[in-house]
Amino acid sequence: MMVLETVDAGDTVKVKAYAGAGKTSTLRMIAERLERKRGQYLAFNRDIATDAKRKFPRNVSCRTVHSVAFASADRALTARLNLPKEPPHLLAGRYGLGPIRVPTVIGKNVELSAFQVGRLVADGSARFCRSAQAEPDIRHIHVDELITEQAADELRSMLLPHVVRHWNESIDRNGKTSITPDVYLKQWERSKPQIGADFILFDEAQDSDGLMLSVLRLQKSSQSSMWATRISRSTSGAAR
Ligand SMILES: Nc1ncnc2c1ncn2[C@@H]1O[C@H](COP(=O)(O)OP(=O)(O)O)[C@@H](O)[C@H]1O
Ligand SMILES: [Mg+2]
Repeated sequence: MMVLETVDAGDTVKVKAYAGAGKTSTLRMIAERLERKRGQYLAFNRDIATDAKRKFPRNVSCRTVHSVAFASADRALTARLNLPKEPPHLLAGRYGLGPIRVPTVIGKNVELSAFQVGRLVADGSARFCRSAQAEPDIRHIHVDELITEQAADELRSMLLPHVVRHWNESIDRNGKTSITPDVYLKQWERSKPQIGADFILFDEAQDSDGLMLSVLRLQKSSQSSMWATRISRSTSGAAR
């Protein structure tokens, strides 16, 4: 089988297939084949990692990406997980952002409320956390497709400094509002972590939005890694 031959050659393999096609089973075959080496199985979803713990041989440690990141996270930062959340409208207010009127492709102007503007900032910061990029950029700010292209560009450019500010506040050890787990996840990626396994099995890779690609690129010692990506209906054209 192609996948196993490529693994034997020590190369990285990426497999895209539908749900139930046998991706996780293939990862398990790899783990059994490399029984004398230490493997790290990673997934974003806790239930999937828990399920893998049951199924995979003992040479493989099965964990969520967040649990690996949490283990090396700054405790002052993870303590913020339990603080109260700052609602989007209060965030907008603190940043001096009010409602914004924007033109739409159907000809009418719409007003984004301060709440919605605050959400765009917080969501932009969140999307950056899951990305492979080193800094927030306009690609992380997703605005409604109804907004005209020019207004959308202007809106993203105007909001970007606020997204950068939000990110910087997110990593402040003395911050007084809650952070999401993706903040320590991004900090982990930025620390250029070495996973410390001979091979890495990354399941359900479609959940990672670039971040794990960045982490796996950094690995020096892992002989091979294997990505299993689930194809959803909307991306089935990309099947290979
Ligand atoms: N080569 C195979 N022959 C028969 N059954 C298989 C084979 N590979 C996987 N299966 C079965 O198919 C089901 C789905 O496999 P799984 O590896 O979980 O798929 P995926 O991870 O792609 O969703 C499981 O019940 C598994 O036992
Ligand atoms: Mg699977």
